[in-house]
Amino acid sequence: MQDDLERILFDEQTILARLDELAAAITNDYRERELTVIAVLNGSLIFMADLLRRIPLPLKLDCLSVASYHGGTKSTGEVVFRQVALPDVEGRHILILDDILDSGLTLAAIRRKLEGENPRSVRVCVLLEKRIVRTAEVNADYVGFQIENEFVVGYGLDYMERYRNLPCIGVLRKELIAP
Ligand code: IMP
Ligand code: MG
Repeated sequence: MQDDLERILFDEQTILARLDELAAAITNDYRERELTVIAVLNGSLIFMADLLRRIPLPLKLDCLSVASYHGGTKSTGEVVFRQVALPDVEGRHILILDDILDSGLTLAAIRRKLEGENPRSVRVCVLLEKRIVRTAEVNADYVGFQIENEFVVGYGLDYMERYRNLPCIGVLRKELIAP
């Protein structure tokens, strides 16, 4: 699998060291608040597991499943909610966790949907943020790493459902991406 990478951007040790910092910031900000984490499946699974174990606060965890991609490397803009029952967000402080902020369409749609359920607050935490002009207006409150506009895989991120179990994050070789 690692041979399919053009280059490695962040190895496992670098990722985990950054998660220590992110977790410390989140722990500090939510010390007096009842936190509900909503993880966006499937890309945030590994990030979520490693991050939450570094946050020593009582919190609730729920997951949302959406589809915004149809196999390629570009967002189609259409966000389909696969889960019928939405997590219970009313009156709670919500922290949305996602793998990557790209066009922003996915997170904007999720945020809009959750804000309609009367939460106390909504914040967004992403492992990666691409340095691009976003299609949808959405900001992340906590960002692991900023990256250039390249297609990356590993540590939860996939290309056609592969590479999620790579322990590092890297740029996929261009010739492996279907035109
Ligand atoms: P957005 O709606 O364009 O912000 O896309 C968000 C989703 O697209 C993410 O949650 C990922 O699943 C996927 N995505 C965007 N960029 C990448 C990438 O570089 N590698 C893998 N998945 C990506
Ligand atoms: Mg994906």
